[in-house]
Amino acid sequence: MRTIYLDYNATTPLDQEVRKAMLPLLEDLQGNPSSIHHVGRKARAVLDEARYRVSAVWRCKPSEVIFTSGGTESNNLAILGTARLLKSKGRHLITSQVEHHAVLHCFDYLERKEGFEITRLPVDHEGFLDPLTIEKAIRADTVLVSVMAANNEVGTLQDVAAIGKLCRRKGVVFHTDAVQWFGKEPVPSIDCFQADLVSVCCHKFHGPKGAGALFVRSPLLPDPLMHGGGHENERRAGTENLLAIWGFMEALERFTVTPVFPGVRLREQTQHLRRALGENPYVKALGPKERRLTNTAAFTVSGTDSFALLAGLDIEGICASSGSACAAGSLEPSHVVLAMGASREASRSLLRFSLGRETTEQDISTLVEIFPRIVDRSVGVRG
Ligand SMILES: Cc1ncc(COP(=O)(O)O)c(C=O)c1O
Repeated sequence: MRTIYLDYNATTPLDQEVRKAMLPLLEDLQGNPSSIHHVGRKARAVLDEARYRVSAVWRCKPSEVIFTSGGTESNNLAILGTARLLKSKGRHLITSQVEHHAVLHCFDYLERKEGFEITRLPVDHEGFLDPLTIEKAIRADTVLVSVMAANNEVGTLQDVAAIGKLCRRKGVVFHTDAVQWFGKEPVPSIDCFQADLVSVCCHKFHGPKGAGALFVRSPLLPDPLMHGGGHENERRAGTENLLAIWGFMEALERFTVTPVFPGVRLREQTQHLRRALGENPYVKALGPKERRLTNTAAFTVSGTDSFALLAGLDIEGICASSGSACAAGSLEPSHVVLAMGASREASRSLLRFSLGRETTEQDISTLVEIFPRIVDRSVGVRG
């Protein structure tokens, strides 16, 4: 059976050129960048070069780049670290209801355990957050706003630059989780987000898993989560994962200024999917037609749930998702679909197809052809 992989928002295959560029580090680089001797200094030079080249892509200072283990860690460092740093100034924080769990659970934790007050702003039926609602929500004691750039479940692109400018005008730190933006939408410089903190990981654009970074606009210095040595500008203790960092840098240089995801082709393919799958009376396409990730097509299917649908697709060799991969395995309704105004029942049936560089016309026509059968079967199983 042929595998049809339509889950690029969960992760992407490692690019062959990036892999090749990483291999020599496995062979040759045995030193610790913190060691004084020449073996250590060689490793330090590689680390410094990676940081410098990332900063050149982002047009920022090298000291504004903190290497992390990925999107989750970057979000945790940005949110927990900034809230703790600024708590004597204020304890009010703002986010949206459609963030990834790696953001939402940080705010839940700060509320439950550390006495912060959180405003979680609603979105409209397409997943858009009105920047005006942020302006209204900002108070004298607000210290941090966090809004994602691109939604992982339905693909809505937020106007983060407008939100960032607004926050700057109000003197509030702005963080954006841009994990799904990189590789899919252009990043001419890190300033395109107008943010003080930007989270990114590279396994979403053909880099290795477990590698990412947090951009931190100086002079902001979030409280570290990990304590020990003075690594990463004293923001993240621990010997650096040079192999992952090099892979991150290689993928970032190649695939993010001009996105690696072929937007024009993917837009046509996802529009085709929205039209063709949407013809089924049980199926409803989600998210906006414009201002969305070109690769993402999300649906709800009445009378069944995500598990039945995903299992049915998997039997046919098709990999899709019920939204955030981390939530797979639980039948929780999608908080994103709920926030967009759908019923709890509908929110349990989210089906996300996220396409990528290797997706072919044949993949799409196979899906369109077998989809009605899968819906009939899974509605039948439940009914
Ligand atoms: C929007 C968003 N933020 C954060 C993450 C977490 O990133 P990582 O898997 O690198 O921890 C993901 C991954 O799915 C994501 O889609």
